[in-house]
Amino acid sequence: MAGSYHEAPESLGSAPPGCPAHSTWSPLSTEYLTDPYPIANELRDEHSVFWSEQLGHLVITDMDLIEEVFMTPAVYASSNVQDPIAPLCPAAQNVLGAPDFNPVAVMSNRQEPDHARIRVFTRQGFSNRRLKALEDYMRSRATKLLDEMIANGSPAEFVQQFAFPLPAEIVFRLIGFPPEDDRMIKSWCVNRKAFSWGHPTDTEQVAIAEGMLDYWRYCREFVASRREKREDDFTSELLNAWEADSGPDRDPDATTGISYSEVESVVYGISFAGHDPVTALMCNTLLCLLPRRDQWQALVDDPSLVSNAVEETLRYESSQISWRRVTTQDTTLGNVDVPAGTRLMLNFASANHSPRHFENPDEFDITRARANKHISFGKGIHFCLGAGLSRLEARIALELLAERLPTLRLSGGQTFDYFPNITFRGPNSLHLEWS
Ligand code: HEM
Repeated sequence: MAGSYHEAPESLGSAPPGCPAHSTWSPLSTEYLTDPYPIANELRDEHSVFWSEQLGHLVITDMDLIEEVFMTPAVYASSNVQDPIAPLCPAAQNVLGAPDFNPVAVMSNRQEPDHARIRVFTRQGFSNRRLKALEDYMRSRATKLLDEMIANGSPAEFVQQFAFPLPAEIVFRLIGFPPEDDRMIKSWCVNRKAFSWGHPTDTEQVAIAEGMLDYWRYCREFVASRREKREDDFTSELLNAWEADSGPDRDPDATTGISYSEVESVVYGISFAGHDPVTALMCNTLLCLLPRRDQWQALVDDPSLVSNAVEETLRYESSQISWRRVTTQDTTLGNVDVPAGTRLMLNFASANHSPRHFENPDEFDITRARANKHISFGKGIHFCLGAGLSRLEARIALELLAERLPTLRLSGGQTFDYFPNITFRGPNSLHLEWS
């Protein structure tokens, strides 16, 4: 059975008996949002598993244990990954109680065997063949955005001028959304980040819930329009697969093929997952590289370093620093007895900087061997569907920037703000200069 896409918890839960607990640490504190790594390192050095009272989650800091969790999906379900982290206020619940707010769990939050059934169809949209076909389009869009940024002159604000529009345009065109809706969709996506990974106030929750409802209705109407008239896009391919399986009147709970309501929810899911972390990845590569002039110069001189520079950024300063799971049964993890129904926060920030897994983990080094052994795209059956796409987009962007703007640098005197949430990490704005 498909669960609903977002289910708010009724309470924050309590620590498993005998488990070490932390009462003050919060991934939403300004200090952690500004620079999570020194704190994540300390947390990992103290405990590989501990209970966070502020978050109501069991926090896993150790890379091997995080991998064990990812590789044991029957015990550690992904059903909570799109849920709000804390209970919702009644007014927000009321908004989302609208009878037509009915997205179903489809990919990241769907369990086996349905997850594998649906992934067969979604995988085709992100195959190497599809990426190869998209590469020329990505390169030409990236070139055009960069031409415009250069024409507007130094200094430039990189998020607005390049890092937001490029990944958004790519995934929205892949889905088939019309370009005139890009800004509106993006603003709904910010809502979703706050809804599922932030801790909004009651008043904010209501406004966010209204935005979520609009966003879901937009996705449904879009899929309905493609149902009437197919185009050359991912949504039309999914609808063709739905129809080919057993026709438009198939049973929505059928166990083969993909159902119509699943197509709607895949569009809702991928239109969020498919751009925000890539925007952040593009910004994070520059935040890491530009202050380290020797490494930036090495990359300008030798573009073959670009690929490893992207992997090292995903390790050192990932655009996703945590993910979640919930236990389906009583189990033991790293000597802690964990009851069924316990929510887990997998701390990628501490794992990606683990000295047991990476030499000098707090140093950024684009020539690092095994930089790609990070956990930033997850592992196992839910491994990120867009990993290949993200890597390709980031490589294209970095290659072009190094080639066209070798004197690129961070503007002095800027501070970096991060959207308050427990998972996604990239600066809200990034000011750059060149000569
Ligand atoms: C730097 C960019 C990105 C990062 C760091 C990232 C990270 C992740 C992570 C950590 C997961 C969960 C993996 C697990 O549970 O084992 C995931 C799943 C997923 N990602 Fe990404 N992601 C990125 C970009 C994208 C893009 C561009 C797309 C789509 C266009 C995408 C689509 C998905 C989907 C559909 C899933 C669920 C897959 C499944 O459950 O089978 N992601 N991603």
